[in-house]
Amino acid sequence: MRTIDFLQEGDGAIILIDQRLLPHEKKVLTIRTHQELIEAIQTLAVRGAPALGVAGALGVALIALRSEQKRWSKVKVGEAIADLRAARPTAVNLAWGVDQVTPLLPQGSAAVLKSALAISQADGLANRAMGKRGAAYLLEKCGRKKLRILTHCNTGSLATSDWGTALGVIRELGEQGYVQEVLADETRPLLQGSRLTAWELSEAGIEYRILPDGAAASALFSGLVDAVLIGADRIARNGDSANKIGSLGVAIAAKECGVPFLVVAPESTIDRSLASGEEIEIEFRADSEVTHFAGKSVAPLGARSYNPAFDVTLARYITAIVTEKCVYEISKGERL
Ligand code: MRU
Repeated sequence: MRTIDFLQEGDGAIILIDQRLLPHEKKVLTIRTHQELIEAIQTLAVRGAPALGVAGALGVALIALRSEQKRWSKVKVGEAIADLRAARPTAVNLAWGVDQVTPLLPQGSAAVLKSALAISQADGLANRAMGKRGAAYLLEKCGRKKLRILTHCNTGSLATSDWGTALGVIRELGEQGYVQEVLADETRPLLQGSRLTAWELSEAGIEYRILPDGAAASALFSGLVDAVLIGADRIARNGDSANKIGSLGVAIAAKECGVPFLVVAPESTIDRSLASGEEIEIEFRADSEVTHFAGKSVAPLGARSYNPAFDVTLARYITAIVTEKCVYEISKGERL
């Protein structure tokens, strides 16, 4: 099944793979209310920018359906949509997905759902296009050889509607026989790299090793990496790209080592209303994600944290941004 989908039987519900339990348990969560969806988004049961875009659109379809079934007032519908839109601030895709389908509300829930499912379909097609474009670009840049690729966070099928963004490029390269190994940053503190990316790579039969985030610069300086591929949550007009915390450090190290650093994301992740990354709102998360590990305290009682979920990689560290439409060669001064 897709990471997130809509069950039309009965009262209607959103179904999604609960990413909090992976890799050890694959459980499907049935979401019946928009409050449940907001909780699933905030606790990262569903996560990754493009998947959040689909969650936003399907969420509006669910709200539309419930409002018809329970005769909600316009005010109540508006509040539910606003709460969903604001569930996580950094990935522009969530608000984008909500905004794409909200104008269809007067046409009824069936029209909203149809449009939301089309967004999911289009995201899948975009994944494949990015995969092909990114793979072709990288092979030209690095030469037609088996590549050693470092990646950060999870940008695969769990974060999207099909193959993934950065991981989609890796899958495409893998299919063509051009992957020697993937170095997957574990991605502290919620371990999207070791729990999710490693799981997707092992299912795809692609060679990988997991490294602590702190080892990424060392791997680059030791000559173990031919290219870095990451995704994005929001890209400003000048190319500054917000992605999972830790991406910035990897980009700086890659630039120092002369290793290409590619951001792979759908056009819907580009927020042209923002001039630069300074304007991107960064989500801060709970102390307990840092002071506890697997539910156990690993810090002195009462310790506080600095826990931004994302950082902004400045455009000057980015070689190129790959979308379904084209490759923007940022390092050659190309504009978005
Ligand atoms: O906090 P998360 O897990 O939602 O963060 C996800 C990321 O930072 C991904 O790299 C990004 O959304 C791109 S997913 C194709």
